[in-house]
Amino acid sequence: MTRISLVDQTQQLIAPYLRPGDSAIDATAGNGYDTAFLAHTVGPHGHVYVFDLQQKALTATKSHLATRGLSHIPVRYCLSCHQYLSQHIAENDSLNIKAIMFNLGYLPGGDKTLTTQAGSTLIAIQSAVNLLAIDGCLSIIAYPGHRAGALEFSCIYNWFTTLNPLSYALKRISIEKTLRPAPEVFFIRRRR
Ligand SMILES: C[S@@+](CC[C@H](N)C(=O)[O-])C[C@H]1O[C@@H](n2cnc3c(N)ncnc32)[C@H](O)[C@@H]1O
Repeated sequence: MTRISLVDQTQQLIAPYLRPGDSAIDATAGNGYDTAFLAHTVGPHGHVYVFDLQQKALTATKSHLATRGLSHIPVRYCLSCHQYLSQHIAENDSLNIKAIMFNLGYLPGGDKTLTTQAGSTLIAIQSAVNLLAIDGCLSIIAYPGHRAGALEFSCIYNWFTTLNPLSYALKRISIEKTLRPAPEVFFIRRRR
């Protein structure tokens, strides 16, 4: 049996809510796989904002989009911590964002000290949730298996449990039959 990765499962959760022409945010560019998914889905009339602290990640993302034939899709590359995300979003996109993806941790194959941190991640996800359109969704893949990731995971978990289920549809997915602590997806869809 093939096991579908958490990254693929997350994209499948988002896909029904994202349409051509929409605006979306990838809050952690990495190697650009999620940006490519978002760019492919929103198409040439949509818009994707992508954030990373490392120029290396933004460059890798740009080149991944080129390889996938997606260079013509409007993508704004933001070399910035995602805690400042709302400062980079165009005014007409505020409350109009249909999908926001966070895949936390460090750049695969890169410097593990340049990892996402609980404090800035919490600021980022709180401001991100305030940008969502109705039926817009936000996903967070969190990795509690390393030190910074464990603290980050518990802060996200605590924040997630405070969200009002009347305002947000909430879901968590984890990998089954694996060593603990396993990564998890936190998925939030704005209802109203
Ligand atoms: C696991 S990777 C993301 C994978 C990516 N979504 C993909 O599809 O390839 C995490 C990324 O988050 C970036 N990062 C770490 N701290 C950050 C911060 N405060 N703001 C924005 N990006 C950050 C890292 O540089 C790294 O590239």
